[in-house]
Amino acid sequence: DAAMKNGYPHFMMKEIHEQPEAMKNTILPRISKGLPDFSDDKIPDEIFKDCNQIHIVACGTAMHTGMVARALMEPILRIPVTVTIASEFRYEQPLIDEHTLVLVISQSGETIDTLAALRLAHEYGSKTLAIVNVKGSTIARESDYVLYTHAGPEIAVASTKAYSVQLAALYMIGCRMALVRGKFTEKQAMDFLSDLLDVIPAMETMIAQEQMIKGVVSHIIQSLDAFFIGRGLDYAFSLEGALKLKEISYIHAEAYAAGELKHGTIALISDQVPVIAIATQEHVFSKTISNIREVKARGAFVILLTKEGSVVDDNLADIRIRIPDVDDRFTVFPIAVVLQLIAYYASLGKNLDVDQPRNLAKSVTVE
Ligand code: G6P
Repeated sequence: DAAMKNGYPHFMMKEIHEQPEAMKNTILPRISKGLPDFSDDKIPDEIFKDCNQIHIVACGTAMHTGMVARALMEPILRIPVTVTIASEFRYEQPLIDEHTLVLVISQSGETIDTLAALRLAHEYGSKTLAIVNVKGSTIARESDYVLYTHAGPEIAVASTKAYSVQLAALYMIGCRMALVRGKFTEKQAMDFLSDLLDVIPAMETMIAQEQMIKGVVSHIIQSLDAFFIGRGLDYAFSLEGALKLKEISYIHAEAYAAGELKHGTIALISDQVPVIAIATQEHVFSKTISNIREVKARGAFVILLTKEGSVVDDNLADIRIRIPDVDDRFTVFPIAVVLQLIAYYASLGKNLDVDQPRNLAKSVTVE
């Protein structure tokens, strides 16, 4: 066990640190002449061209990568991108057909609900592309096409590096689709890929700040509840931030679209309730900042995550964590590292079992 942890105190910490390498392993073999290329994966362009909608199904953290993909892809591709929780999808009558590309996302490739969703998609005649980490797993074998992430084994129950590489795979799929559907020029696709590669040093920058983040977390570990807020892509990242914190620190956490706060959640904001606010999206930046003012006015303890270059008043937040200035569409990668470290140090600070949280399993193979 200790040998497998390679000097790290927990698998989760080891896996957080392995992310830059996992990203390279997943992205680099699929770049040819500066463009995304899935010919070695035997994924034909036809499935990207011949569809009029994308339906993403997955569970847990994998489902959250779908939420990011939806917010990323719809504005670029201009076709509907729907995300459904696999345990719901399997008992619905989904609006999918032979013109639907169903993306199934699973680290283990064995999650029973996700497998059932895949089988249902086939019954409806949809083409299926699975993003899977474990080679030869059931979902990988049964899907029409598979794009393997190369995260290596993930042992900690709380998923970290699998989340990042699933996103990397989805970003590459989005880019290839945009190219073959005439939504990106070659130049735009190349720039998109180069932005994707730029997130790797940005992730390293945030990993190197783990001690700072540990200090930040010391302010929230006594809390019973925490809220994660953001808009657009930032909201999609919040979902995973809240899940991570719940899973391993047992602090009740909720992700909220920042503009929706006033319709309920703000009633729960009082003195010293931690609010982790993510504001990395320029087009909604000022709107999120207004929402932060609203929670601050009610006494919340605000931890603000923004890009380095963003200008905000010093008194807006109690603590500000700055990520490198990557393009708005790519901020999830350094933000994910910060959110993972917040959860990790909250769990550690409460002396909990970081790698084996109560009641949870790494892979859920029974319903
Ligand atoms: C379990 C794990 C989660 C994971 C989910 C889906 O609940 O604890 O971390 O996100 O299953 O797993 P999969 O292997 O399908 O990605």
